[in-house]
Amino acid sequence: MTTFRSTSMLLRQAQARVLVVGSGRMGHIRTKALYGNPRIQLCGIVDTNIEQAKSLSELYRTPLFASLEEAISSTATTQLPLDGVVISTPTPTHESLIIEAAQNNLSIFTEKPVDETAHNTSSLFQTCNNQNVNLCCGYQRRFDSSYQALFHQVNSGAIGTPLAASIFFGDHPVPSRQFLLQGGANIISDCSAHDVDFIRWVLQDEVVSVYAVGTSSDDELREKNVIDNATMLLKFSRGTNVTLTLSRGANYGYDQRCEVFGTEGMATVNNIAENSSELANESGLHRPKWQHSFPQRFEAAFAQEMDAFADTLLGGTPWPIKEEDCVEVQRVCDAALESCETSQVVHL
Ligand SMILES: NC(=O)c1ccc[n+]([C@@H]2O[C@H](COP(=O)([O-])OP(=O)(O)OC[C@H]3O[C@@H](n4cnc5c(N)ncnc54)[C@H](O)[C@@H]3O)[C@@H](O)[C@H]2O)c1
Repeated sequence: MTTFRSTSMLLRQAQARVLVVGSGRMGHIRTKALYGNPRIQLCGIVDTNIEQAKSLSELYRTPLFASLEEAISSTATTQLPLDGVVISTPTPTHESLIIEAAQNNLSIFTEKPVDETAHNTSSLFQTCNNQNVNLCCGYQRRFDSSYQALFHQVNSGAIGTPLAASIFFGDHPVPSRQFLLQGGANIISDCSAHDVDFIRWVLQDEVVSVYAVGTSSDDELREKNVIDNATMLLKFSRGTNVTLTLSRGANYGYDQRCEVFGTEGMATVNNIAENSSELANESGLHRPKWQHSFPQRFEAAFAQEMDAFADTLLGGTPWPIKEEDCVEVQRVCDAALESCETSQVVHL
C-alpha cells in the first residue's frame, strides 16, 4: 500500500495534529486514546450534536466544532494545519466525511466498516488514492496482544496445518428491546466484520463460500422477523472450515473467543474477566463476569491503534489493513446476509 501525505515533511514533526469526528461511544474511546498519546496533538472534536459533545470537549480541553468544514477552516488559519482525522460517526455518514477529509488532504482513520457495501468501500479507497491520502480502517483485533499471539502461533506453524476454526461473538450488554424491535443494525452486518477480518488475516487465505443461518431468541422477535443470533460457516480456499457464531445477548459479560485447530495443536484466544479473584465455597468456585463490553476488552488495542495511526501520519508506516481486506470483509458479510435470506450457500 502506498503511504501518502507528505511523509518527508511530517518525519520532522514531533506530533501529528488530529481531529475527532463524532463524540459517541467510539468518539469517547478515540478522544481519550489520542489525548493520552504524546505523539498526537488533539485539535478538536466535531459533532453535529453540539450539546452532547460539549462535555467531551471540556474534559479534554479541546475545541468543539459543529461540522468538519468549520473545523478545517478554523484550523487552516493557524500556522499548523491538520494532518489527520478520526471518523467515529455512524457508518452511513462515513462516505461523505471521508470524501470531505480527502478533498482537504487529510489522512483518515475510520471506524469499521469503511462503508456498508463492497463497491462503495472500493470507490472510497480510490478517492483517497487519487488525493494521495491514507485511508486507515479500524479492526482492533489486529492490535490486541491476545489476537496477535494467536496470529503468530498459527503463522509460525505451531499448530501445523489449520483445519478448522471456531469463533464466538457474544455481545454484552444486550441491546434494548426497542432497538431490537425497530430492526436495530442487522447482527451479521453489525457484529461479524471484526472476526471475518481477523480470521482472513490469521489464515492468510480467502473465503470461497458462505452459508449463514439466523434465529430469534423469543417469539416476539420471531414474529417481527428480528434475528438476534446467527451462525456463519465460512469455507476457505485451502480447505479450512470456520464457524462464526454471533449473539446479541451474552448475559454473563462480553464473550469474545477464537479457537484455531490444526494438525499439530490448537491456538485459542480466551475471555478476560473483570478481575482475577475467585471465591471457593460449598456451592462451588465463583469467579467474576467477563469484562463488560468492547471499551473495556479492547481498551489497550484501541490505544495501540491510535499509536499506529501516529506511525502512519508521522513516519509513513503503511496501515496494515488494506483496501482488499476491507472489500473482502464486506463481500463475505454481504454473502452471509444473502445466504441467511435465501437459505443457500453463496459462492464468492
Ligand atoms: N471498533 C469497534 O469495536 C466498534 C464498536 C462500536 C461501533 N463501531 C463503529 O463506530 C462508528 C460509530 O459508532 P458509535 O457506536 O460510536 O456511534 P454513536 O451513535 O455512539 O455516536 C455517533 C456520534 O456521531 C455524531 N454524528 C453523526 N453524524 C455526524 C456527522 N455527519 N458529523 C459529525 N458528527 C456526527 C452523533 O451526533 C454521535 O454523537 C460506527 O461506524 C460503528 O460501526 C466500532
